Amino acid sequence: MKRDFIHITDFTTAEIWDTLHLAREVKAKLKNREDYKPFKDHSMSMIFAKPSARTRISFETGFFRLGGHALYLGPNDIGIGKREAVKDIARVVSRYNDIIMARLFEHRHMTELAEHATVPVVNGLTDYNHPCQIMADILTIWEHRGNLDDLKIVYVGDGNNIVHSWLHLAARFPFEFVCVCPEGYSPESAAIRLANEAGLSSISISHDPKTAVKNADVIYTDVWASMGQKDERDERIKRFQGFQVNDDLMAATGKDTYFMHCLPAERGVETTDSVLESKNSIVFAEAENRMHAQNAIMLRIMGIE
Ligand code: CP
Ligand code: NVA
Repeated sequence: MKRDFIHITDFTTAEIWDTLHLAREVKAKLKNREDYKPFKDHSMSMIFAKPSARTRISFETGFFRLGGHALYLGPNDIGIGKREAVKDIARVVSRYNDIIMARLFEHRHMTELAEHATVPVVNGLTDYNHPCQIMADILTIWEHRGNLDDLKIVYVGDGNNIVHSWLHLAARFPFEFVCVCPEGYSPESAAIRLANEAGLSSISISHDPKTAVKNADVIYTDVWASMGQKDERDERIKRFQGFQVNDDLMAATGKDTYFMHCLPAERGVETTDSVLESKNSIVFAEAENRMHAQNAIMLRIMGIE
C-alpha cells in the first residue's frame, strides 16, 4: 500500500513522533552540510492551484537539498479539475515522478488525486486543511519548549483550514486547544468531533478572546480571509473586530507566551507589527521548519528513510 499525507490523522501518534524526530535529524544534517542525498534520482511534481511562497520554496529547496529534482506547476500550467480530470492528472504524473505535492482549492480533489496516483501524494493545503503546516508548527513548539507536556494552544481568528489540521493533531497528541473566533466562523463540527472522540485532548470553541487566552503557552493566528475568500475580506474585517492578536491580548495570557502565525500575515489586521516583531514571536523559525518537517514526511511516505 502506498502512503499519502493528506491529513495529519493519516499518521499514527508513533509515526508523527518518528517524523518529528527524523525532521530534527535531517535538519541537523542540512545545517552541517552533510553529504546526505536520499532523494538522488528522484523527482517530484508540485501542483499549485493557489499562490504560495513558503510551500513552494520549502518543498522545492528541501527536495533539492536531499538530492532530488522538483518541478513547479503553477495555476496556469495543469488546470487540475478544469483543463484535465484530476484522476487523469494523477495517473499521468505518477508515470513521470516519484512523489506529488499539491495545493488545491477543493479537498475532494486532493483525495481523488491521492486515490488515483500510484505514487505518494502530499497535501500542501486545501480549503479544508494544511497538515504540513501544523507538523512544522508542533516541531517548532517542541524545539522551543523542549517538550510538549501540558501544552495550551489558543488559536485566535477564523476557524479555517489551519484549525482543522490543529484539530486533527489533537486527535493524535494530547494538548488543550481553544479556537477563539467570532460566531459563525467556527471550524467544522466533524473535525471537532474527531478530536473529541479520540479522547486525548481538551477542545473548546470560544468567542471571548481575553478569557480564552489565559494561561496559553502559544497564541496562534492566521489571516481572516483565506485564499479563495478574498472577496469577503472587508466584511470579515468588520466581523472580526476584537479578535486581533495585539500586545494587550498577548499580555492577557498572564505568562510568557509564544506567538505563531503560518504566514503570510496581514500586518495591522489579524495581528500587529509589534507582536510579529516581539521576542516571543517564533514565526520565522516556524516558517523554516516547514522545510524540515516536509522532508521528514516525504522520506517516510516514500519509504526511503
Ligand atoms: N504558510 C504557507 O503555507 O505559506 P504559503 O501560502 O506562502 O505557502
Ligand atoms: N488560511 C490561509 C493559510 C495560508 C497558508 C489560506 O488558506 O489562505
